[in-house]
Amino acid sequence: MGRCMMLFLALISVFLAPALASQSYVVYMGAYPDSPLLRTSGKPHHQMVSSVLGSELAADEAMLYVYKNFNAFAAKLTPEQAALLAEREDVLSVIPNGKHHLHTTRSWEFLGLEDVHGNVADNSLWKKANYGEGVIIGVLDTGIWPESKSFSDDGFGPIPASWKGECVTGDLFGPKYCNKKLIGGKFFLNGYEAEEGRLNTTATGDYRSARDLEGHGTHTASTAGGSFVPGANTLGFANGTAKGGAPLARIAAYKVCWPSTSGSGGCYDADILAAFDAGVDDGVNIFSVSLGSNPPLNPLFRDGIAIGSFHALRKGITTVASAGNAGPSPGTVSNVAPWIITVAASSIDRDFNAFVVLGNNVTIKGESLADDDLDENKFYPLIDGASAPAPGGNSSTSKYCLANSLDPAKVKGKIVACLRGVTARVDKSYQVKVAGGIGVVLINPPENGNELLADPHVLPALSLGYEAGQEVYKYIKSTRNPQASILPTRTVLGVKPAPVLTAFSSQGPNTLIPDLNKPDITGPGLNIIAAFTEAHGITELPGDNRIVKYNIISGTSMSCPHLSGVSASLKALYPNWSPAAIQSAIMTTASQKSNTEAAITESTSKVSTPFGIGSGHVDPNSAADPGLIYDNSYADYFNFFCALGYTKNNIKAISGESFTCPEEKPKVSNLNYPSVTVSNLAGSQTITRTVTNVGSPSGSYKVSITSPPGIQVEISPSTLTFSALGQKKSFSVKITKVSSSKGYVFGSYTWSDGIHSVRSPIVVKTSAGTKDSSVTELN
Ligand SMILES: *[C@@H]1O[C@H](CO)[C@@H](O)[C@H](O)[C@H]1NC(C)=O
Ligand SMILES: *[C@@H]1O[C@H](CO)[C@@H](O)[C@H](O)[C@H]1NC(C)=O
Ligand SMILES: *[C@@H]1O[C@H](CO)[C@@H](O)[C@H](O)[C@H]1NC(C)=O
Ligand SMILES: *[C@@H]1O[C@H](CO)[C@@H](O)[C@H](O)[C@H]1NC(C)=O
Repeated sequence: MGRCMMLFLALISVFLAPALASQSYVVYMGAYPDSPLLRTSGKPHHQMVSSVLGSELAADEAMLYVYKNFNAFAAKLTPEQAALLAEREDVLSVIPNGKHHLHTTRSWEFLGLEDVHGNVADNSLWKKANYGEGVIIGVLDTGIWPESKSFSDDGFGPIPASWKGECVTGDLFGPKYCNKKLIGGKFFLNGYEAEEGRLNTTATGDYRSARDLEGHGTHTASTAGGSFVPGANTLGFANGTAKGGAPLARIAAYKVCWPSTSGSGGCYDADILAAFDAGVDDGVNIFSVSLGSNPPLNPLFRDGIAIGSFHALRKGITTVASAGNAGPSPGTVSNVAPWIITVAASSIDRDFNAFVVLGNNVTIKGESLADDDLDENKFYPLIDGASAPAPGGNSSTSKYCLANSLDPAKVKGKIVACLRGVTARVDKSYQVKVAGGIGVVLINPPENGNELLADPHVLPALSLGYEAGQEVYKYIKSTRNPQASILPTRTVLGVKPAPVLTAFSSQGPNTLIPDLNKPDITGPGLNIIAAFTEAHGITELPGDNRIVKYNIISGTSMSCPHLSGVSASLKALYPNWSPAAIQSAIMTTASQKSNTEAAITESTSKVSTPFGIGSGHVDPNSAADPGLIYDNSYADYFNFFCALGYTKNNIKAISGESFTCPEEKPKVSNLNYPSVTVSNLAGSQTITRTVTNVGSPSGSYKVSITSPPGIQVEISPSTLTFSALGQKKSFSVKITKVSSSKGYVFGSYTWSDGIHSVRSPIVVKTSAGTKDSSVTELN
């Protein structure tokens, strides 16, 4: 598990440690009373806290945040004090200050926004949307490196008049570090400090400001909205013009993730809520959130990202979030609220090829970003880490090349084969170097299949897939004097097949809301180049002084901002579209094919399902002209809450609003979502959907259906005729069990007018215990 897992990124795990009992809580009340004074003063909240703490002064010290867009506050409390508050009638819920983790150049060409020469065609979303001009992207992350050329404002007009945010002064950050591109920078750490103690800037090196120590926030912000920067490369690799998904959009950084000193670091709910609260008031149009937590997931009314993004939704703001890096196991997807665009990660058609030549002259392809080379005309001794344990140790740690696990006497001057897993990939080559080795062959365990991550190792090294790795292990066993050489890395374009879903990308089914398919979409998240912090060397390992302006990293953290950029461009093109409309346009126009015209696969070569890729791979130019959209208003999500069985108080806690559920309980499947999921089909279920015409002023759409195996799908009516833009038409989808199937089965339906294809995946699981081919109406 690397930084990729928890930060939803790929290198070192900075934020891992045991969970501690909460020392701070977020307290939710009902809707704000209408008095604006109450909204801003926070006085009633202070009184509540002093009532349990005994004094005004103690309450002042305990208060972490009073939120403005929702009637809630965060405070340092003992569990007993929290329980006292929870008993009050005006308090809806008291939740522990939970923690989340941080879950290019070529990628835009791969997405069809430009051609190989960087030319942008007339049908490109970029051209239509004027590169996202006028839109503001708020990035919740580790902050930003303001000096990066990706945040240069050359050629930018004035800051949009609607903008109310600012660049808050702190360590090496403030108004003078901002410009017409980077228009906001705020930092939120009260929630972090309540749990982990005051940020120790000496021990962590981090800045008490929006400046980015980690690099993750700089990378995601520049992917979403970076300016054009020619000649961007990492250690000479992937040289090209860097740019974000909405190169003329403005960026505001909200730093909510902090490193560990004694605690475990991370991104706390109280701080995440404060960032959403600020961003909504500042005038952000798109929130990009490359962080989350792994299952078991909290209900939506206890999840800071879900609550914060719901308040953003009320103001018409889209939130895009990463699906997580806990794949390929099923049921690992996070950030599953329907108003969030949940993003999986797949490859692009670029490889960083490196080769290992074995002593028997067999040459095996892998990937690397190592910038140090061996003499390619020479062979060097090769050893399996498993057979070089340090004195007193054994192969269970040395096969992974963990710290102090290798015997320098056995490793010196040799290339070492190390198994991927347990520690960061770049740490393994570092440990080999420390032990006197000269090269590393890093081998995937079976679960990582042939997924290859290119890493900037501190000595000549490359990653190999599982099967290729077995070849190396076999060779080592076959000879008394195993030898190898490692050839230098070269950048290769036009790789096929691409995209391929990454093994780390978190997968469905949705463990919290089984009748809502997640993730929604996949985008580029493997070996992505974007801007980086210059606060430390590329690997953060001791003695690695290779400062880079651009770094290549992997994760759903990297695919999320691709979708944030695309969403920002769509927002620029259609300023009045709701977040649901933007989400629908992206999902219904997605592609299910790779560049070989075959179905998109996973790294194990099996065809991916909607649990892996959601509706498919993002196709920005098609999203600019979706034809029909599945829209939802803010109000529409309230029936969805009722369908989840949420109480009045649960609904108030998430929305701040009082809502009485209809007598007949709504169904989750009936949320007007661009995909259809029935997780417990007994007999037959009929679902309704409504589409809005945003394509041609008039025309007819015909439906075509690919039923999941063993399931019959009927759609009525099968033709929808429109006579005006904005016109809405409803239809029913009847899903019937025909024969028994084990587990989930997948299909799709598509509306087409000959120009637009509006596709929705269908995900069905039949309930156990119903008789074969019995068709019972159970609506
Ligand atoms: C902060 O870290 C430094 C270096 O590790 C240490 O010397 C110092 O005591 C720490 N300060 C506090 C307040 O813990
Ligand atoms: C990157 O490409 C630019 C433009 O083609 C070129 O001038 C520059 O030397 C290249 N840099 C590297 C490190 O390859
Ligand atoms: C590998 O190739 C080299 C150069 O062609 C040759 O000299 C050598 O004998 C070959 N080794 C084996 C084991 O085939
Ligand atoms: C190998 O070492 C690990 C960790 O030091 C230990 O837990 C394990 O029991 C050892 N295994 C054997 C076979 O000695």
